[in-house]
Amino acid sequence: MKIKNGQIYLEDVPVTELAKTYGTPTYVYEENRIRCNFRRALKAFQKYYPNFRFFYAIKANNNLAIAHILRQEGAGIDAASVNEILLAKKLGLGGTDVMFSGNFLSDDDIRQGLESGVIFNLDDISTLPRVLKFGKPEFLSFRLNPGYGQCEVGDFVCNGGPDAKFGVHPDQIMDAYRLAKEAGITRFGAHMMPGSCVRDPEYFRFITELLMDNIGKVGKELNINFEFIDLGGGLGIPYKPGDHVLDIDEAARLVSEVFTEKIAEYGLQPPRLMMEPARYFVGDAGYIVGTVHSIKDSYKRIIGTDVSMNTLARPAMYGAYHHIYVNGREDEERKPVGLCGQVCENTDFWVRDRPLPENISLGDLIVVENAGAYGYAMSYQYNGRLKPAEVIVNGNQHWLARERETIEDLVRNVTVPGHLLK
Ligand SMILES: Cc1ncc(COP(=O)(O)O)c(C=O)c1O
Repeated sequence: MKIKNGQIYLEDVPVTELAKTYGTPTYVYEENRIRCNFRRALKAFQKYYPNFRFFYAIKANNNLAIAHILRQEGAGIDAASVNEILLAKKLGLGGTDVMFSGNFLSDDDIRQGLESGVIFNLDDISTLPRVLKFGKPEFLSFRLNPGYGQCEVGDFVCNGGPDAKFGVHPDQIMDAYRLAKEAGITRFGAHMMPGSCVRDPEYFRFITELLMDNIGKVGKELNINFEFIDLGGGLGIPYKPGDHVLDIDEAARLVSEVFTEKIAEYGLQPPRLMMEPARYFVGDAGYIVGTVHSIKDSYKRIIGTDVSMNTLARPAMYGAYHHIYVNGREDEERKPVGLCGQVCENTDFWVRDRPLPENISLGDLIVVENAGAYGYAMSYQYNGRLKPAEVIVNGNQHWLARERETIEDLVRNVTVPGHLLK
């Protein structure tokens, strides 16, 4: 994003042109920013540990156009569900290019996951006998919950530690791999995902050490050759103005250093090092362009926009912060106001007492920052508010990447029994 003469541009396209062409609210993604984010991170990790690969956690943004950008850059896919495995297939990816990290799987999930032939990453020791009922995965890993987690994005998001629903307890990890080996599984990896939006490089060193100490003992005692170690995602981005960026080079250096040390300590054959971030690649490359539709002066001033909690769920869901720019008014004096969407829930009053340009007016365009990850993918249709359009920009070109929903989408799967139509 840039601001020239007060006007906001996404890559080189004025937001006014995007709003005129596609309407609002619309998600807009900067292709070159995604590529830059990916390349910066890959370069950092490969510099210190050449046998490194990223898998893109497609849950964060499952638009195939976005996923194709990351596939072109060389990413595999981290799939959280069978349907995400099928999305990967639409990208032309399968087998060892895809990692299935579901949790609390149904028998159907297991059966279809096995049939797909991707790497199976199990979230619990109890899932293994259920998997073995249906078949033997060629390639298996377990997700370790190392007992710690860190999260900077809001409440309830932390996915490691005793309060998380994810992962195998460290006391069970040896037995988990032992059972898998006894069952005749021959190819192994190891996985964890204990952090979300972390910007402290030292944290990544710390959790790598934790994983390697657990996995190293397993490798040594069971004589297992781990072909990959996957540190999960969690590479953070700054959401609030003034927040520091993650020093990705330092994170890569620290991780690789401890990783290499632990390989030597436990006598492991050097595995491929993997990570499966999403936010770091797409988070700051995505924006929502919205319109100010009404302004209420009551107990307080509230700016009403078409960016509602159904369009961007994160603030209402877990108190996440998203910065807002107002086109043509960024140089104006500011005063604290509230800002909301159009959904009949008070959690849709998602900005409170934030300094916004004083003269914000009907028809103004707002640009909501850092909306590329967990934005559209978490949108929904409550109140009959439909899902927005998605657009890709590259230089001064732009393309529709997903159509705005219509009323037909709201009733597409609905059938009304005949007697109710009389
Ligand atoms: C298993 C797993 N891997 C990767 C990710 C991606 O995380 P992030 O977007 O924070 O990098 C997530 C996010 O929830 C996840 O659950």
